[in-house]
Amino acid sequence: MRDCHREITRWMQSLGAQVRIDAAGNLRGIYPADRPNAPRLLIGSHLDTVPNAGAYDGVLGVVLAVTLLEELRGRRLPFGIEVVGFSEEEGVRFGAPFIGSRALVGRLDQELLDVQDARGVSVRKSMEDFGLNAAEIPQAELENDALGYLEFHIEQGPVLEKLKQPLGAVEAIAGQSRLEFTFFGRANHAGTTPMHLRHDAIACAAEWIGVVERLAQGVAGLVATVGKIEAKPGAVNVIAGEVRLTLDVRHSSDEIRTRAVKDLIHEAHVVAARRGLTVGETTLLDQKAVAMDPFLAREIERAIVKAGCKPHRMVSGAGHDAMILAEKVPAAMIFLRTPGGISHDPAESVAAEDVEKAIACGLHLLDQLAASPEFLKRMNRA
Ligand code: GLV
Ligand code: MN
Ligand code: MN
Repeated sequence: MRDCHREITRWMQSLGAQVRIDAAGNLRGIYPADRPNAPRLLIGSHLDTVPNAGAYDGVLGVVLAVTLLEELRGRRLPFGIEVVGFSEEEGVRFGAPFIGSRALVGRLDQELLDVQDARGVSVRKSMEDFGLNAAEIPQAELENDALGYLEFHIEQGPVLEKLKQPLGAVEAIAGQSRLEFTFFGRANHAGTTPMHLRHDAIACAAEWIGVVERLAQGVAGLVATVGKIEAKPGAVNVIAGEVRLTLDVRHSSDEIRTRAVKDLIHEAHVVAARRGLTVGETTLLDQKAVAMDPFLAREIERAIVKAGCKPHRMVSGAGHDAMILAEKVPAAMIFLRTPGGISHDPAESVAAEDVEKAIACGLHLLDQLAASPEFLKRMNRA
């Protein structure tokens, strides 16, 4: 992350931006407006990623934001541009995502700072180890001169490719729940314990994972994933005494998502009780679905047309920092077609021509906003 910050800082500074790392580890570079005390449009995405990741999820949006500054070639706009490279969006290490963006909306709170990784290191401690000061987190919060937030991101799905369209305008982002479950059974000898006398935590978890898959398959648009599982003590000849696993549930309707989570918690207890085990669960995230700003989405569609493409409105199944920023400022996203719809995998890619279209679209959008009476009205309110 430090190398990444260094590279992008150098690049932004060469374009006349003032760069800092805020107290939550977000990289923030300000490209000034053509006038003093003007408000700012934020453009960014995240710099972290998942294990065994591709090269584009997140960082492409930051690189595109800096590229737009470069393509302005010294030209200043009536509003400033703040490029943000968020520090921790995926939530891999702590299970809790959006840590960087939550700082900007004032939600990087004590509870989140106390969340621990698998080795018992808290968010707070890891921030301090990186050289940050948790007491300064309030200084990372957005001030009221933020006009809005724009994020470029790969689609991470097959829709734009199927439509043969390079770019899409996001109108909403699906809500998501993340939980951690621990099944407690009884560790015992794999050779001497008859099948009917076991309290096998892995067998119990496996039965429940089957329930998760079937339940999600039966509800249109619902996705549910057990993406991580750990068993203790973890030996070939020992019946597992404990299994810890994660659950990720998403739907564009918050009602359907929360209903599914409730049902799956209930089912975990039913399966565990029938097998003589117990189970406990912790909620790591309950993030509502979020609508993108209608004005910005319309302007994005216009800019997509000007870039020579057809516009397409879509809902994002993936979570994004934009859904957190939307709590405080009008937020919008532009998706880039993802070959094969593959993401969170080294095969993730993007076509150079689509990136060119995204840059053209971004430049048109900035010019449209600079000339928009509605946006200028917002500037006067900021
Ligand atoms: C972020 O990639 C997510 O989990 O949606
Ligand atoms: Mn991701
Ligand atoms: Mn992402």
